[in-house]
Amino acid sequence: MSGAKNAALPALAASLLTDRPCTWRNVPRLHDVRTMGRLLAHMGAVVEGEEVVRVDASKLKRQEAPYGLVKTMRASVLVLGPLLARFGRARVSLPGGCAIGERPIDQHLKGLEAMGATIRLRGGYVEARATRLAGALIVFDVVTVTGTENLMMAAALARGRTVLENAALEPEVVDLGCALNAMGARISGLGTPVITIDGVDTLAGADHAVIPDRIEAGTFMVAAAATRGDVRLRGADAAHLDAVITKLRIAGADVRIGRAGIRVRGPAEIAPLDVVTQPHPGFPTDMQAQFMVLATRARGQSLLTETVFENRFMHVSELRRMGADIHVDGRTAILRGPARLQGTTVMASDLRASAALIIAGLVAEGRTEVLRVYHLDRGYERIEKKLRALGARIRRIRGGL
Ligand code: EPU
Repeated sequence: MSGAKNAALPALAASLLTDRPCTWRNVPRLHDVRTMGRLLAHMGAVVEGEEVVRVDASKLKRQEAPYGLVKTMRASVLVLGPLLARFGRARVSLPGGCAIGERPIDQHLKGLEAMGATIRLRGGYVEARATRLAGALIVFDVVTVTGTENLMMAAALARGRTVLENAALEPEVVDLGCALNAMGARISGLGTPVITIDGVDTLAGADHAVIPDRIEAGTFMVAAAATRGDVRLRGADAAHLDAVITKLRIAGADVRIGRAGIRVRGPAEIAPLDVVTQPHPGFPTDMQAQFMVLATRARGQSLLTETVFENRFMHVSELRRMGADIHVDGRTAILRGPARLQGTTVMASDLRASAALIIAGLVAEGRTEVLRVYHLDRGYERIEKKLRALGARIRRIRGGL
């Protein structure tokens, strides 16, 4: 398994908090990681290496994230907190809409304002200023992963104590907090809904290996279950995958957890599923599309309810074109199976939907062509090579890294 995209991106952004060099290990080779590298370089940081990435942000020329980079990757907004905390100013383009939902950043901005920042929205940009951020009590209205990360980074260099309530519990948030603590931050309560940060004046450099990618692991686990495969995932961390493993077992898969990773054996017959996406430790929204493909194979009625994003069912129409029986009622997709999926040409709408379509292609009769496969390269490292090594007949026709 590769390192986690959603742990690597905030880690790279955290390099902006210090004038000391940072070394990030186990960084996946992904398009989004490169975009974050380009963003840091645009600001004047020196960024070197792949997999082991060194960032030196000692001489920053500008504290700005331009629209051109932010529009290709919303996680660019993660530079806002660090820039404001260390330099007292930041100019970051507003991300705009996204295929899976509106995805506002109001919680990030409200939190920074509570810490004393002045925020202006001008010409599509967030312009933020502060002399020095001050600790504050911040209660999130919704659980937000990057919102928690942004404010945790900002608070690390603020004056006094910040308490984040209703904070995200995702393993990627915990990983970032551990990296910051190793840099000299004083953060406690990681992995709980109340995170306390006692600000310090400066942070040292980092040398940190990011956690393995639980969503990549989950995607391969579903692929194994759906194809009656027998797959061992070296380096996957089962502790981050409780909800996914529980549902796979209900579906009938044999999931074994060992010291070196996880082994999944697909069942002869898949049992129907009832899945509701939730913030961690609930079932991850980033696994919903892949589980929908598994549910097309189940005998009987399955329900998949998406509560995190308002528009994350773009894969439904493509799966229907392949022969799935799916009816969407509000936030719930109702599936009747088993369906015999037929290969055809389908269009990927976002990262996790493209992974789902690849799994659909693996189980479908005949050939499936997935268009707009560039979405896949944002979050899966060499997925077709890894699948080929497991016996899949998959190849890249064109496009990609
Ligand atoms: N929200 C607000 N206001 C805010 C922030 C969020 O209303 O200020 C809402 C969102 O619109 C959404 C919900 O809160 O309905 C949760 O959004 P969250 O902020 O947690 O999402 P995110 O931080 O933008 C991260 C991951 C996503 C993953 C979500 C949910 C990164 C870089 N991205 O996004 O990953 O789906 O958390 O777990 O960490 C992916 O990898 O494919 C991906 C989309």
